[in-house]
Amino acid sequence: AASKSVFVDGKSYSEDEYTNVTPKILSFIGTNNHNRCGHPLNLFKQRLIEFFYNHFRGRTGNPIFSIYDKISPVVTTNENFDSLLVPKNHPSRNKTDSYYLNKTHMLRAHCTAHQSELIKMGLDNFVVFGDVYRRDEIDTTHYPVFHQADGVHIFTPNELELIYGTNVNVFDDDKNNSNNEKQGVYSKEANEIVTVHLKKTLVTMIKNIFGEEIEYRWISEYFPFTHPSFELEINYNGQWIEALGCGVIRHEILKNAGAGNRIGWAFGLGLERLAMSFYSIPDIRLFWSKDSGFLNQFQNLPKDGRMKYKPISIYPQCINDISFWLPKEKPFCSNDFYELVGNYGGQLVEQVKLIDQFKHPKTGNVSHCYRIVYRHLEKTLNQAEVNEVHKLIETNATQILGVKLR
Ligand code: PHE
Repeated sequence: AASKSVFVDGKSYSEDEYTNVTPKILSFIGTNNHNRCGHPLNLFKQRLIEFFYNHFRGRTGNPIFSIYDKISPVVTTNENFDSLLVPKNHPSRNKTDSYYLNKTHMLRAHCTAHQSELIKMGLDNFVVFGDVYRRDEIDTTHYPVFHQADGVHIFTPNELELIYGTNVNVFDDDKNNSNNEKQGVYSKEANEIVTVHLKKTLVTMIKNIFGEEIEYRWISEYFPFTHPSFELEINYNGQWIEALGCGVIRHEILKNAGAGNRIGWAFGLGLERLAMSFYSIPDIRLFWSKDSGFLNQFQNLPKDGRMKYKPISIYPQCINDISFWLPKEKPFCSNDFYELVGNYGGQLVEQVKLIDQFKHPKTGNVSHCYRIVYRHLEKTLNQAEVNEVHKLIETNATQILGVKLR
């Protein structure tokens, strides 16, 4: 009998006892919210990229970090776990925690899965953005698909010396001298320089995004792929939230990837979690919303703009268009119309925008068409109620602004 296969991105993976991806989960692949213009995750991503480009420059002022945001989320279990020294019995390897295509391939559970391959390619400084998949509960802060940024900064012995000022040994003579603060192989000074550099960089990054006043604290952590490891927490509205995980990359990983003469740091952060604080978005599921009531709020936001997300109604939208000829005798501006819609539509209007304009070739008359999206905060509007308000807007636009309905 032919065995069943899972198809992802044009490739097939034969199913086995590990396969646990569902059609629903596979349907998220390729959405790439982090690459979609005007999506809050994309805006937030751009802020991070800007920080890395500006903060780390090469000899001629060129950015030294490379950005990767189109790597497929399908990875081998070797990339996701083994290359990162995740123990064979680590809970994240369980079928109950991760999404497997089969025994050898899975949907990445973190963007760190690409670390080793990229270092092997010769890269020292990079940030990977991507969707990651974890089997988890679904609530306001958890969703089985979310997005991460994962960064790596590797130093050559020369670069360390530049930071430190004098000659510094990267490695320890006594390889067994490992403790809570450092890996055995690295010298105390090299470990100290890299740890301080790591913490300074990430605090600068967080302040750059959230502002100088942001309150933060460092917590000591454990990750199989870094030592020492830390977590940075920020205080958001009186609540401590985890902003990122980071640490000094395990020397064995660098060695296996052909960079055994070096030392470096790595970090990983969840884009949704930080974007939720940054834009005051109350529910992680909203990032998947196709509702224009949600997405519109970010559409014209400059990437350095901070805004407070306005909760949208759970009730359906009711869309009515209005078209009219502009008055010839007096000036007309769209903002006057927007204001009028606000005055007569009140709480029922969620959005108004100009969707079409037209100049008659013979008469020279100009016509505008506006789309008004009606939505009630507490109930489903019926067409009769909407018509009543829409009529009121039409009448007043005619009387007050002097337009002529088409
Ligand atoms: N991969 C870790 C996570 O998903 C974050 C991390 C990345 C920690 C790199 C340390 C170094 O939580």
